Amino acid sequence: MDKLIIQGSKRLKGTVRISGAKNACLPILAATLLTDEKCVIKNIPMLGDVFTMLKILRALGMDAEMEGGTATVKPGKKRGFVAPYELVSTMRASVCVLGPLLGKMKKAKVSFPGGCVIGPRPIDLHLKGIASLGADLDITGGYIVSKAKELRGGHIYLGGHFGSSVLATANVLMAAVLARGKTVIENAASEPEVVDLIKFLKAMGAKIQGGGSHRIEVKGVRRLKGVTFSIIPDRIETGTYMIAAGITKGDITLDGAIPDHLRCVIDRLRECGLEIKASKGSIKVKYKKPLKPMDITTLPYPGFPTDLQAQMVSLMAVTGGISIVTEKIYPERFIHISELNRMGADIKLEGPSAIIKGVKRLSGAPVMASDLRASAALILAGLVAKGRTEISRIYHLDRGYESVEKKFTSLGARIWRESD
Ligand code: EPZ
Repeated sequence: MDKLIIQGSKRLKGTVRISGAKNACLPILAATLLTDEKCVIKNIPMLGDVFTMLKILRALGMDAEMEGGTATVKPGKKRGFVAPYELVSTMRASVCVLGPLLGKMKKAKVSFPGGCVIGPRPIDLHLKGIASLGADLDITGGYIVSKAKELRGGHIYLGGHFGSSVLATANVLMAAVLARGKTVIENAASEPEVVDLIKFLKAMGAKIQGGGSHRIEVKGVRRLKGVTFSIIPDRIETGTYMIAAGITKGDITLDGAIPDHLRCVIDRLRECGLEIKASKGSIKVKYKKPLKPMDITTLPYPGFPTDLQAQMVSLMAVTGGISIVTEKIYPERFIHISELNRMGADIKLEGPSAIIKGVKRLSGAPVMASDLRASAALILAGLVAKGRTEISRIYHLDRGYESVEKKFTSLGARIWRESD
């Protein structure tokens, strides 16, 4: 198994090109199931999760190829409707083939995705939304088995205890675009990744209004066509490098980033004391003066993203004073804290809040990555720590950050991969 080695305490400086957004391209790849024609999708990041989604598409009878950052997907000889446990269990996002399979084939058998290290991740909203389009649903042998003679539009309230749901909105949308009549989704997710999916579906010929708001209307159409499409840049990767500039007292420019997708993050980091210049297609982050402690609460978009919570905890861990980071999406998403404390951080957990007493310095240590964003938080801590940090289980990282060592090395970091 590979591990990442970081020799810390280097100020990072330079420019990084932001990759395509993982969380936009996974549902968009699933949406290619909705057409009988070829789709070409560009700006796809080379990541473990993307390769898993391509395998699922192949298991469903599609020809799916990836070359460079471009995926070409078209129906093969025989289309299937079973997304098997072996693949779905490795990535929760694979549950979003349910909507397009039902929309197109009127039947689907998709393995029930399991628990997750970031806390419980139920799919009740996905099931509620799909059921209100008239599909029969049954959980049998660990699979969601669903069929419908015909899907018909419905009026759906898609909010749960923790607010809107990104992938449930995507799933219901993808089922609704080929349903008969009009569907209204209330409390729809408004994340940029959902908006990108809507853009893709509209390019295919879907009739959708209200993308980016919490009320989306879909008028079903009979068929959708194949298209060529380019994925938006990854706002979470962007935010991670922005925080890297802060934690290493650096000066980093993020090429290809969309500042509009990161308004809250830009606002919070400016308040923290970083100089941020945002222009079309670029964000420049520069450390100028000692940073201030912050109180941050994660919320659905446009609030502070849960996918940057762990990285923010690393930054606050070396920022003088007391910070409080509260997690309102996944209250148990704090496994990184014990690893950061092994590096000398002073963080206590009280319910869904991390109480962080900023320390002068972290010291390098062997640590273990528990999930994707926790891995990123440990890299950031390793970059600022004194001495050598060894991060094991980095396969989590390879699921969501493209060329991470290469990008950090180009900024001046001493970071490399070793096999055990
Ligand atoms: C997406 O997951 C992202 N994944 C996650 O990114 C991200 O953390 C999350 O949205 C929140 O922004 C992809 O897009 C592939 P949700 P998703 O449904 O859609 C609760 C990463 O690191 N909920 O918006 O699965 C849920 O438990 C990953 O890249 C229900 O109660 O998240 C959570 O509290 C991790 N019932 C809240 O809603 C449901 O049926 C929001 O989750 C569904 C969700």
